[in-house]
Amino acid sequence: MVSAGLLKVAVLLSLAASGALGRSIPMSRRDTAASGFTLTGAAAPDTPLTLKIALTQSNPSGLEDALYDVSTPSSLQYGQHLSKEAAAAYVAPSSDTTSAVNSWLQQNGLSATTLTPAGDWISVETTVGQANELLGASYNAYTHDSTGKQVYRTLEYSIPDELESHVAVVHPTVMFPKYSTLSPIVSTRSSKRQQARADVSSESAAASCGSTVTPACLQSLYGIPTTPATESSNVLGVTGYGDNWANKADLKSFLSKYRTDISSSTTYSLETLDGGSDPQSSSDAGVEADLDVEYTVGIATGVPVTFLSVGETTNDGELDGFLDTINYYLAQDSPPQTITTSYGDWEPDIDEGMAVNLCNAYAQLGARGVSIMFASGDGGVSGVQSKDCTTFLPEFPSGCPYVTSVGGTTGTNPETAVSFSGGGFSNYWAQPSYQSTVVPEYLKYLGTTYTGLYNASGRGFPDVATQAQDFEIVTGGSAEPVSGTSCASPTFAAIISLLNDELIAAGKSPLGFLNPWLYSTAASALTDITSGNNPGCNTNGFSATTGWDPVTGLGTPVFSKLKTAAGL
Ligand SMILES: *[C@@H]1O[C@H](CO)[C@@H](O)[C@H](O)[C@H]1NC(C)=O
Repeated sequence: MVSAGLLKVAVLLSLAASGALGRSIPMSRRDTAASGFTLTGAAAPDTPLTLKIALTQSNPSGLEDALYDVSTPSSLQYGQHLSKEAAAAYVAPSSDTTSAVNSWLQQNGLSATTLTPAGDWISVETTVGQANELLGASYNAYTHDSTGKQVYRTLEYSIPDELESHVAVVHPTVMFPKYSTLSPIVSTRSSKRQQARADVSSESAAASCGSTVTPACLQSLYGIPTTPATESSNVLGVTGYGDNWANKADLKSFLSKYRTDISSSTTYSLETLDGGSDPQSSSDAGVEADLDVEYTVGIATGVPVTFLSVGETTNDGELDGFLDTINYYLAQDSPPQTITTSYGDWEPDIDEGMAVNLCNAYAQLGARGVSIMFASGDGGVSGVQSKDCTTFLPEFPSGCPYVTSVGGTTGTNPETAVSFSGGGFSNYWAQPSYQSTVVPEYLKYLGTTYTGLYNASGRGFPDVATQAQDFEIVTGGSAEPVSGTSCASPTFAAIISLLNDELIAAGKSPLGFLNPWLYSTAASALTDITSGNNPGCNTNGFSATTGWDPVTGLGTPVFSKLKTAAGL
C-alpha cells in the first residue's frame, strides 16, 4: 500500500515525459497490485517485453448478427456456418486502424507481428523502457508470493489520443496473472477418498447411479447411447492449463473399470501450445485433466478427443493461455466441433477490454459452427471458487453470452441443484435476446430478494447443468471421487459431440453455438431442475425453481429429446 503512493508519482512523471507526443487517453488503471504479488522494484529499462495489442475490430456487431443468424433455429440461415475467412472479416481491423497503429509503432522504431488470421491481435517486441514511453506506463517487477515467479506490470497505461479509436487492449499492462486461483474447479470428497483409494480393480462399476457417478450412471440417467460414433472428422477438444496433465494409464484403467464394453486402449490425442506437454509418469497426473479426458473419452464413445495442453513457458498464467487457446483454434481450418474447458476466473478480475475481446473470439468460433462449453464455477454465487464477498461475483467466461455455461446437480430422486454450482449475472454483458423470456420470469420470482447484490440486466448463467458430485475417476493410479462443475462441462460436451456425430453422419451441419437452440427448440429436451440452491457471500444464494434459474440453467439433458430437437 505504501508503494502504491510512490508509484503514482512515477506514473505522473512518465506521463509528463511523454507529453511531447500529444495528449494521452487513459486506457485502464488499478490502485494496487493484485493480491498475492509483491513489488520487487522498478524494472530495468532494457528488460525485454512482448506487448500484445488488440486492434479495434471493424464490425463486432455484424459478427454477432451473423452468429445469431446461423445459430437460431427459426432463422433462414440456421446451420449455414461461416467460413474461417468470412468470420475473420468481421473482426479484421479497418485499413485506417492498421495504418494508424503501424505508423505509431514505426515512429517509435518498432514493428508488429500479426497473431491472428483476422489481424486483430498483433505482437510487438520491445523493452520496458520503450513501453513506458509508448504507453505512459511505469512497469515494475512484481514477485508472485507463492510461486516466486516474477512478472512486469504497470498499474495504469494510456495511448496517444489519435489512437483512441484504433487500440482496444494492450497486454501485459494492468492485469496480473493467476497461478493458483484460476485453477481446476475440482473438489474431492475427502470422507470417501480413503475407502475409494483402496483398490481400483476390485470395485465394480455401478450400473446406475448409486453413491457415486460413473459413465454407466450418466448413460442411464440421461439416456446417452453406448454405441460408437462413426465420424472421424467430428472432434471433441478438451483444454488444459497450469501443468495439469492427463495420464494415459489412468484413462486405460478407468476404461477397463467403467467401460468394459469398449477397448481400454481407446485414448485421446495430444496437442500442445505455449510449450505445453503431457508427461506420463503417475506422479504427473492431474486430477482435472484426468477427469476431463475420462469423462469425454468415457462418455463420447468413439468420438476422437484431443487434449490441448497449454503451457506457461511463453505466457504467464491461464488468462494468456485462454487468449492463445482461442487464437490457436481460430487459426485452424477445421477446429473441433465441440470444446470443453473446466477453468475460469472471477469476472471483475479480468480487464473488461480483454474479457470482451475474448468473448468476441468465442463468437467468431461459434459462427464457424463450434459449440463451446465452460464449467460455471464451484463457488455458488461467489463465483469460480468460494470466497468472501459483499456482492455476488460472476464467473468468466460464463458471463460471455456466446458460450454455453454448464452448472451442476446431484442426486436422482429428484435430481437437485448441487450447492457449489456457480451461477448469477454478468456485469460486463447485458441479457442476450435468447434469454429475454426466461430470465425476466426468474427475476419476477426473485422479487426484491438480493437487490443490489447482483446485476438484473446482465447475462444470466449457467445455461444448462449435469451431475457434478462424486464422479469416480482414476488419477495417479488410484480411484477417487471428485466433485465440481468440472465434472459437468465435459459430460455435457460429450453429449453434444455425440449429437454432432449423428448430424454429420446424416449430412447435416453440427450444432455450433448452442444457446439460441437450447433456449428455444431444445428447451423441452432438458429436465427442469426445481430444487436446491447455491449459497455464497453469506447468503443462501439463488434457488432453483420452475423454468430457467441461475443455479442449473434450463436443466439437465435427455438425449433422445435432444436428438429430436436437433432434427435427427
Ligand atoms: C450491469 O450490467 C449492465 C449490462 O451489461 C452494465 O451496463 C452495467 O454496467 C452493469 N452494472 C454494474 C454495476 O456493473
